[in-house]
Amino acid sequence: MPADETPRSRIVGTGAYAPERVLTNFDLEKMVDTSDQWIRERTGITERRIARTDETTSDMALVAARRALEAAGLEPKDLDMIVVGTITGDMPMPACAAFLQRKLGITDIPAFDVSAACAGFLYGLSIGDQFIRSGMHRYVLVVGAELLSRILDWEDRTTCVLFGDGAGAAVLGPANGDGRGVLSTKLYTDSTLVESLCIPAGGSKERITPASMAEKRDKVFMNGQDIFKVAVKNLTRASASALSEAGLSAHDVRWVVPHQANMRILSQVAQRLDIPLDRFVINIDRYGNTSSASIPIALDEAVRDGRIKPGDTVLMCALGGGISWASALVRV
Ligand code: ACO
Repeated sequence: MPADETPRSRIVGTGAYAPERVLTNFDLEKMVDTSDQWIRERTGITERRIARTDETTSDMALVAARRALEAAGLEPKDLDMIVVGTITGDMPMPACAAFLQRKLGITDIPAFDVSAACAGFLYGLSIGDQFIRSGMHRYVLVVGAELLSRILDWEDRTTCVLFGDGAGAAVLGPANGDGRGVLSTKLYTDSTLVESLCIPAGGSKERITPASMAEKRDKVFMNGQDIFKVAVKNLTRASASALSEAGLSAHDVRWVVPHQANMRILSQVAQRLDIPLDRFVINIDRYGNTSSASIPIALDEAVRDGRIKPGDTVLMCALGGGISWASALVRV
């Protein structure tokens, strides 16, 4: 690889965590009017993980973070910043990242959440990258962690079959000029469809009242078809943009690690990018859609099982509520 003087960040360690409890499509058949066949054919999901009732988002983030730090050969005290992409923090306030900082046993470094739904991890990665590029920080912990089972309406078959709980993490550190590192990141939001994927009540717009709870307005609402249509177009566009900014083409990509929202979305994105589906890291069948956790969980899995090797060029892309979407190109 050519010597590279561009200051950039590099992923120096990854980690992930998924709760033990498995909820299968057959379990869901007993809860709502659905079928294993419908869920598999429409989404690609077979099962998902569900957190224990005493587990919190920061508990899951902690395990993923510790594994990422261990892989990086670092201690919590080496970190300069913590960014958690989540829409399901431990409390509405303060940030989940603050709880995570306390559990890591450190203090006096910035720790904050990013609310970009399923794109949260890539938003965090881009933020961490900017701080390291600028020379302000050396090591940044970026986490995607979601406990979605707490904000789902378990009587709504159009949403409850799709999601799962989990956490993933990456430690970013300074690149050493060997060509490896974060090559480009792209972030976008288009609020046209802001109400197509939301939790209507619980913020300043609408309080949670007995009436709003009875109507499940404190739970996830999604117009799946609205999201599906823009997902394919925007994930493709963002991926192409990250590639062109780095001066690379789809042929240079060894692995795509996409947000795991729907197998049909991934197939169409693969087709449009002209990257064979067997170069996509896919685990939606086992975890469902874990929102901001899905990319770092899949990334960690593929790093640990040896599919992703040092020097591989990896494209990541995600889209979720907002509508917010993002892409990142990384030479790992
Ligand atoms: N089991 C059985 N039938 C169902 C289920 C279910 N779980 N859910 C819906 N159906 C029915 C519908 O009621 C409808 O019935 P009808 O024709 O009698 O009205 C039929 O199946 C088809 O419904 P559609 O909504 O048209 O199904 P579609 O093929 O669009 O699949 C899905 C739905 C899976 C939600 C898809 O639209 C999708 O994946 N959308 C994108 C989701 C996404 O990417 N979200 C962003 C990330 S999430 C985040 O940011 C937190």
